[in-house]
Amino acid sequence: MTSPCQSSYPQHPSMTDTLYHSPFLKACRGEPTPYTPIWLMRQAGRYMEEYRQVRAKVSLLELCKTPDLAAEVTITAVERLGVDAAIIFSDILVLVEPMGVTLEFQKQRGPVLHTPLRSASDIRKLREVEVEEALGFVFEAIRQARAGLQPHIPLIGFAGAPFTIASYLVEGGASRNFEHTKTLMYQDPESWHALLSLISRTLVAYLNGQVKAGAQALQLFDSWVGCLSPSDYREFVLPHTRFVLERIIPGTPVIHFGTGTAALLELMREAGGSVIGVDYRVELDQAWKRLGAVGIQGNLDPCVLLADRKVIEARAKRVLDQAGGRPGHIFNLGHGILPTTPVDNVLALVDFVHTYQPRSA
Ligand code: CP3
Repeated sequence: MTSPCQSSYPQHPSMTDTLYHSPFLKACRGEPTPYTPIWLMRQAGRYMEEYRQVRAKVSLLELCKTPDLAAEVTITAVERLGVDAAIIFSDILVLVEPMGVTLEFQKQRGPVLHTPLRSASDIRKLREVEVEEALGFVFEAIRQARAGLQPHIPLIGFAGAPFTIASYLVEGGASRNFEHTKTLMYQDPESWHALLSLISRTLVAYLNGQVKAGAQALQLFDSWVGCLSPSDYREFVLPHTRFVLERIIPGTPVIHFGTGTAALLELMREAGGSVIGVDYRVELDQAWKRLGAVGIQGNLDPCVLLADRKVIEARAKRVLDQAGGRPGHIFNLGHGILPTTPVDNVLALVDFVHTYQPRSA
């Protein structure tokens, strides 16, 4: 079944039979797979020599905006690791520049947004984003990556979720307590909802543009939403995330990911997504019991990859045993891979996950 059969998937012009039946996309649909598919958040990153060589020549933002380089690092990571899916190289924050906010990545501090939004008038000044014009470089990187990837490797597109993007816009960078974000949310809910609505409209066009360009699945990163109580999530976030997820081109698997979300899992599921991404602060079997019939992605602690091979295998085994061979498990870390991770440890993990507990297709 290797022949491209594009007419069978009219909404997904880059889909082929080979991709459709790949272990990763099968798991996204909750179908049984011959082995547990694995990919790793931030699989193209500083822990990898090939990536560091590219980054020695260009900044992170230049890399994101240069489609042939972004496609190259996307493909290199998959080929080096032997994982089951590629994720397009980009960053959740490329979205903020076209909204009218300047962005810089500083070595020590990470992302810095120089004009954080703190008032209703700041929010009114934000621009609607024309995604083709402003973010066409991401779509082009996806087209090039799709063309260069092996035909059986699905490509994941992604974006930050409305809350996580808003938190960067309001805080101006990383945050511990999200005090400016929450102040805006509690003090001026009307401006808060206007901000999240604007981000959400942009996300619909941006994510569907990625599917049309050649992504077979999407991941929505709500990395910092775990700082909210369930009732605040329901009131201030869920309607917006649901708005985005309801408008994704039908038949596109979406992984809905967050960290520190043990108190929010059911609500995240209510917001949408065919797979829920969980971090290592919850036990995978408990999460699955609570979530019911949905796929689960996760959830090895990225720090485990700093230990030796024996520990890595024992910990990976624990995750796989908790998944218990249920269809719909995608192995991943609970959060992004750390820059100090030895590549050989990642290779050992991928090998272990692929060979442990084989199941019938
Ligand atoms: O997974 C992949 O291989 C794709 C690449 C990817 C990047 N950013 C490139 C990147 C992805 C999926 C992201 C998403 C992203 N970006 C998130 C959500 C995922 C998560 O970790 O929760 C967030 C919160 C961001 C914002 C961001 N970008 C931060 C906080 C930082 C600094 C932290 C750090 O590790 O330095 C970045 C920089 C960034 N984006 C790097 C990479 C590979 C760091 C490496 C570099 O500077 O080259």
